[in-house]
Amino acid sequence: MCGIVGYVGTGDKSIEVLLGGLKRLEYRGYDSAGVAVIDAAGDLGTRKKAGKLQVLVDDLEATPLTDGTTGIGHTRWATHGGPTDANAHPHLADDGKLALIHNGIIENFSELKAELLAEGVEFLSETDSEVAAHLVARAYRASGDLTEALRTVVNTLDGAFTLLVVHADQPGVVVGARRNSPLVIGLGDGENFLGSDVAAFVAHTRRAMSIGQDQLVTIRPDSVEVVDFTGAPVETTEFEVDWDASAAEKGGWSSFMAKEISEEPEAVAKTLLGRITAEGAVTLTELDGVRERLLTVDRVIVIACGTAAYAGILGKYAIEQWARVPVEVELAHEFRYRDPVLDEKTLVVSISQSGETMDTLMAVKYAREQGAQVLSICNTQGSTIPRESDAVLYTHAGPEVAVASTKAFVAQGTALFLLGLHLATLRGTLSTEAIAEQVADLHEIPGKIEQVLESSERIKTLAGWMADTRSVLFLGRHVGYPIALEGALKLKELAYIHAEGFAAGELKHGPIALIEPGQIVFVVVPSPRDPRSLHPKVVSNIQEIRARGARVIAIAEEGDAAVLPFADEVLHIPLAAPLFEPLLSVVPLHIFGMELAAAKGLDVDQPRNLAKSVTVE
Ligand code: G6P
Repeated sequence: MCGIVGYVGTGDKSIEVLLGGLKRLEYRGYDSAGVAVIDAAGDLGTRKKAGKLQVLVDDLEATPLTDGTTGIGHTRWATHGGPTDANAHPHLADDGKLALIHNGIIENFSELKAELLAEGVEFLSETDSEVAAHLVARAYRASGDLTEALRTVVNTLDGAFTLLVVHADQPGVVVGARRNSPLVIGLGDGENFLGSDVAAFVAHTRRAMSIGQDQLVTIRPDSVEVVDFTGAPVETTEFEVDWDASAAEKGGWSSFMAKEISEEPEAVAKTLLGRITAEGAVTLTELDGVRERLLTVDRVIVIACGTAAYAGILGKYAIEQWARVPVEVELAHEFRYRDPVLDEKTLVVSISQSGETMDTLMAVKYAREQGAQVLSICNTQGSTIPRESDAVLYTHAGPEVAVASTKAFVAQGTALFLLGLHLATLRGTLSTEAIAEQVADLHEIPGKIEQVLESSERIKTLAGWMADTRSVLFLGRHVGYPIALEGALKLKELAYIHAEGFAAGELKHGPIALIEPGQIVFVVVPSPRDPRSLHPKVVSNIQEIRARGARVIAIAEEGDAAVLPFADEVLHIPLAAPLFEPLLSVVPLHIFGMELAAAKGLDVDQPRNLAKSVTVE
């Protein structure tokens, strides 16, 4: 949550760089935005505005701020204090010479604020962040060294934070610090950058460095220095961002979400790339470091939040079926606080698109403290969760900008399928031929998703008819169950419609009481070819709800004639192996959520109250 950008260069172009970076980071929060810039005369100017970034952009166009070589910018997701101009960042210290931006929560801010108030400091906002601005300014007055001043202060703060500061007396310097919140360095030529993630600076450079927990970074146009919170120098390693700025542009689509849904085939294909051999074997060399654990594991616990947790349920079904290891899926925030039983035979698999979700990060750290090994499935290079894990399996879905996750889900499902087949290979629970058969099926999924995307217009029409709907239910069974949950989550997130996903078998244990005439129910129908005969059971469920007046929209395999007489609408998906069907059946639900939101005139990329990267607990 909250997007942060820092810039130092030699030309007067800070504002352009900061606003460009904030535009790409706006998915992290969009309650308000602001910039602070030091101009050639050594004056510090700030501008901040409640509302989306465009409000700030318009304001700066109407009344320009003098540009400079050094600046910081922020886009906010409010925690302490509402989304007002005053609570927007940057916050100025009482001497007006230091500006600070913050992502995270300073948990001991009220004690610190009380001390400052007692000393007569006047606060202009209700935020926890402003406390840090006053404290760093004081420390700077004492030491005359901005890095040292920030280092002194961070050692007195509790909680999670990324902080960036600039000082009018130090043009050409931006200092940052991080604890449990993200910060990445961008390395330019005669200019350097800081950002919450690489999107902040990828338009200028693809050379990046991530810094660890409890570290500070000082950037100047021609130098980058990293020290830890004790002041000791830290070695950092550079990496190359594997996508360019155009990947994070809308590219002619009406929204990032429309673009990202269209990229679902590619997200699967790229996640498979280089990981399957011509013979149909799975090779995951990045997991060599946890090979012993993969061989001896007697239990897997998947931890994640939101859409990633639903992808985790797909992994449960696949890993249990193929590798014969019990798998639990837990919401990271529930796992962390329930005193879970972990031992050296437990493998924890975390899943996170952003690699920054605080609940997942804390669960990863906790699991490792308890002696578990952690393998993370992540989509974002340079993010924190991979750094804190024993091994990483990257999804290669490319940057996901729309707040609600879509293409990351299919990439996460694909990565889990690869993991399941890898485990089955290592443990000898599937024959080489059986694995090759699964791999061949998986290989065909991108092309089949393309076919599903061809029905987008029909789904749009359907969504248009339902723009006034107040409640939608989703039913699914086996791997269709997490798809029902995901379909419901998308409607809540995007269209603000009450929606619930249920396991179809649970219907008669309660949810059927919700069915009244006209109630819309999406049903994810398993293949009639499914060896467990789940298809007739779900068709019976459809008849039960139809008998009570439900309007049924079935997502069913092509050629599934049994479902036709009972459904008001059928959205067809191509034939696929039963475990891989969800990578197809989720696509119409992603499109439906987006189109229903669009039909209601809502912003599908930036839904109200949400942020993409939830970096506070
Ligand atoms: C937020 C987003 C969701 C996402 C979840 C987990 O709630 O709105 O779309 O699924 O975070 O994010 P992660 O980055 O950990 O996958």
